[in-house]
Amino acid sequence: MRIRVFDTPDAAAAYAVALVEQTAAVYAEPVLGLATGGTMIPFYKALVQAVRQGLDLSRAWAINLDEYVGLGAEHPQSCAGFMREHLYRHVPWDGARAHIPDGCAPDLAAECRRYDRLLATHPVHLQFLGIGLNGHIGFNEPGDELVAETHLVELSETTIRSNARFFRDPGEVPRRAITMGVGGILRAERVVLLAFGEQKAEVVARALTGPITTRLPASLLQLHRDVTVLLDTAAAQKI
Ligand code: GLP
Repeated sequence: MRIRVFDTPDAAAAYAVALVEQTAAVYAEPVLGLATGGTMIPFYKALVQAVRQGLDLSRAWAINLDEYVGLGAEHPQSCAGFMREHLYRHVPWDGARAHIPDGCAPDLAAECRRYDRLLATHPVHLQFLGIGLNGHIGFNEPGDELVAETHLVELSETTIRSNARFFRDPGEVPRRAITMGVGGILRAERVVLLAFGEQKAEVVARALTGPITTRLPASLLQLHRDVTVLLDTAAAQKI
């Protein structure tokens, strides 16, 4: 595991974009595993900038981690809405190569299986992750057990409270989501975890240096052989 600490989130985001550039130089059709959340905003900003300056992602695949159940792509707080706002609105991306679980699918279990088939045919080269305050990755919440494959989850109260900041009415935050499982995440060739701000310092330290436990899903990243952690100084202060 490589841990890099930057003065600012923007500096970390620039480094993350350099990793995309490296991947795009190696693979004709790079497969990026993408995430949503406030942490990812500087990264997408820098990525958009890089594309405008000539980074060619026209053959790249984008496979997102998760989506709220019941929020359609047109909902601004859906993960699809987030991606549109921060990435797809700014850079042309072939719709056939941009994937997010469908949280409004009539058969959610079938949608999970469809997503796993997509992951099986498009193994992720570079997986970006944020980390929840409770140590979740994607929407894999802490528990006695974790699930390897894409599945439906009940969101924890911590996650619902934390994500309420993105919704006009906190009561609107969905209580369920579809998420790639920890198996899907750990199968990525390379994983990049980003975390910024003092409030992430504690969970980052526990995830990177504490015991590996399903009670802190991000701690499973210690088992992956190619993880890069990009932090700002505030998030790194307890390591
Ligand atoms: C969300 C997402 C995660 C994200 C995390 C942190 O609920 N499902 O993929 O990494 O929580 O979010 P933020 O970056 O806003 O702190």
